[in-house]
Amino acid sequence: MELFNLKGKVAIVTGGNGGIGLAYARGLVKAGAKVAIWGRNATKNDRAIKELEDLGGEVFAFLADLTDASRAKEAFQATIAHFGKVDICFANAGGAGPQGRLHEISENDWNGVMDLNLNSVVHTYKPVIQHLLERKAPGKLIVTSSIAAVMGTGFASGYATTKAAVLGLTRSLAVELGRKGIQVNAILPGYIETEMARQAPDAFREATLRRSCSGQNGTLEQMEGVAVFLASKSSDFMTGQNIVLDGGHTIYPL
Ligand SMILES: NC(=O)c1ccc[n+]([C@@H]2O[C@H](COP(=O)([O-])OP(=O)(O)OC[C@H]3O[C@@H](n4cnc5c(N)ncnc54)[C@H](OP(=O)(O)O)[C@@H]3O)[C@@H](O)[C@H]2O)c1
Repeated sequence: MELFNLKGKVAIVTGGNGGIGLAYARGLVKAGAKVAIWGRNATKNDRAIKELEDLGGEVFAFLADLTDASRAKEAFQATIAHFGKVDICFANAGGAGPQGRLHEISENDWNGVMDLNLNSVVHTYKPVIQHLLERKAPGKLIVTSSIAAVMGTGFASGYATTKAAVLGLTRSLAVELGRKGIQVNAILPGYIETEMARQAPDAFREATLRRSCSGQNGTLEQMEGVAVFLASKSSDFMTGQNIVLDGGHTIYPL
C-alpha cells in the first residue's frame, strides 16, 4: 500500500538480529526498505541476514557493541559506505539489566544498564541526526522503550529508569528536530516472548497474562506493522509520542 511504502528508504535497526528488532526489520523489508542491522553476535547477524534476504530484502549487518560510542560511529559509517544514506533509525538494542532492590545494585551494574539501554540510544542517534541535518532530509527516529517506563519495575529499577529516560529524550528530540522534518517516537511494548523476556520468572509471565485484556501476551508478528507505520509517511504528523503495544496491560482494571 502506497501509504506505508518504504521503497527507496534505508533503515537502521539496532538489535535487529533477533527478537523485537528482527520483527521490526521483517516489517520494514516487507514494506520495501533496505535494512542495516547492528548487533554483537555474528551467528545471529548471519541468521537474520539470511531470513531477511529470503523475504526479498537488501540487508547489511554490522557487529558492534553499542555501549561504545566509537563502535556506533563505525557502524554508522559502514552503513553509509554500504547503502549511501540513512532515512530511518530504530534504536532498539537493549537488555534487562540487574535485578534486586536499588540499594543492593552495584554502581557498576547500574552504570551498565544505563550504558546499554540509554547511552547506546544516544550513541546510535547522534551520527544519524547529524547525517539527516547535513542532507536536509526528512527522517524517522524510533526507540524501543517499554511499559516499564510508565509502570515501573520492582526489583529492576535500572531497567524502568532507562526506559523512562528514553521517553524524555524522544520528546526533547521531537522539539529539536520537528522543523527539520524529522519525527521522533517511542514504542512501549508489553510482554513479548523473546530471548530477553524468557529470562523473566514464570510468575512475571503469568501476571502479564492476567492483565492482558485479550488474555494473551504479544507476538513478534504484532510488532511488524507499528514499525512500518512509524517509519512511513503515514506517521508524518506524529512526533514525540509513546506508542503502547501491550494488549491493554497498562489500562487493565485490577
Ligand atoms: N520482550 C519484551 O517483552 C520487551 C518489552 C518491552 C521492551 N522490550 C525492549 O525491546 C528491545 C529488544 O529486546 P528483545 O525483547 O527483542 O530482546 P532480545 O531478543 O534479547 O534482543 C536484544 C537485542 O539487542 C542486541 N543487543 C543487546 N545488547 C547490545 C549491545 N551492547 N550492543 C549492540 N546490540 C545489543 C542483541 O544483539 P546481540 O545478541 O547480538 O547482542 C539483540 O539483537 C529492548 O530494548 C528491550 O528492552 C522488550
